[in-house]
Amino acid sequence: MYAERVLSGMRPTGSLHLGHYHGVLKNWVALQHQHPCLFFVADWHALTTQYDDPQGIVAASWDMVIDWLAAGVDPQRATLFIQSQVPEHAELHLLLSMMTPLGWLERVPTYKDQQEKLESKDLSTYGFLGYPLLQSADILIYRADKVPVGEDQVPHIEFSRELARRFNHLYGREAGFEDKAREAVKRLGSKRARSYTQLRTYFQQNGDKTAIERAHALLDEVPGLAHADRERLCGYLEGTGKMILVEPGALLTAASRMPGLDGQKMSKSYANTITLREDAASVTHKLRRMPTDPARVHRNDPGDPDKCPVWQLHQVYSDEACQAWVQQGCRSADIGCLDCKQPVIDGILAEQAPMRERAQPYLDDPRLVQEIIAEGNQKARQLARETMRDVRGAMGLNYR
Ligand code: TRP
Ligand code: SF4
Repeated sequence: MYAERVLSGMRPTGSLHLGHYHGVLKNWVALQHQHPCLFFVADWHALTTQYDDPQGIVAASWDMVIDWLAAGVDPQRATLFIQSQVPEHAELHLLLSMMTPLGWLERVPTYKDQQEKLESKDLSTYGFLGYPLLQSADILIYRADKVPVGEDQVPHIEFSRELARRFNHLYGREAGFEDKAREAVKRLGSKRARSYTQLRTYFQQNGDKTAIERAHALLDEVPGLAHADRERLCGYLEGTGKMILVEPGALLTAASRMPGLDGQKMSKSYANTITLREDAASVTHKLRRMPTDPARVHRNDPGDPDKCPVWQLHQVYSDEACQAWVQQGCRSADIGCLDCKQPVIDGILAEQAPMRERAQPYLDDPRLVQEIIAEGNQKARQLARETMRDVRGAMGLNYR
């Protein structure tokens, strides 16, 4: 059986925290046992917003790879590499840019969102507009079937699907496909042909997916439509001819509600994080200082776990018995907040211990990380080259 290929990337944003672990890395570790996986450092993507300050990117990339290894991503199972070390991504990005309508890029929701969010930066650049296009090249160049991402990235996966479809449509047709398809449209009869053509235009110009559904419904009702014609008409509609690039699917990671030290979602921008390999003293210190239910001013004041961020961490780290102990002890003031925090501290330290251990050899000898990445780069590049050979061939760009 064909094993679906999984690919995902992460921008090198500095040390990863437990939110990344619970939200992304745990999932990668599970996937590597089920699929051939490719995981890469999206260093060029970092440049789209950090072009004015690229100096830290390389160091952040190495740190991040160590965090991946620490989390249990296994280089024997998954291929780990760095985007910029596989320059074929840039070639595919360029070729795809020729056929990418500007409107498609401008309509991607993250474009305006991020521009507004990072308004101190000038992001009215060609590279930033092209962010989803570069991401599409990352995905399509490996013919990835599944892309594990968070909810915010789903529009980018959709974008990749549409691009793959457009590419296959433009360059993947059977000989004489256009003519044959147009003949088939005529055979629909003038009224149906007009509707079909209109729906096709809606889809191709606006990416309107209901248009596809309506066109399929229309074709379903044509009496005696020949199978070959039906295939052509569907292909003509959506732009699927011969499949050169594979349409990927998003593999939605269950939204992790990993709370930070203040009860908000753990995120660097809220300064509420615990890093993956943070030392034990610092973890203990941060936890002991964590705010609790403000009603518990004195040791004897009862509290309400629902109003306390520590309780949220208990939900991640504690078993049922411990959670019952918290509920009862907090509401009756039988336990103090420091008592209550101790099992969370222990839980986090226990989670981190194997990570610190796994990271140590790489910290002692960074060449080990470089070797893993060099090997991954090579493997990835081999796959990327195969796709580019087909892509160039389909476009007629063969000089030999
Ligand atoms: N845009 C992704 C993020 O911000 C990172 C990324 C770049 C990516 N290229 C990718 C993710 C390809 C999946 C596949 O998280
Ligand atoms: Fe929070 Fe625990 Fe203190 Fe209750 S006892 S307020 S749950 S830290």
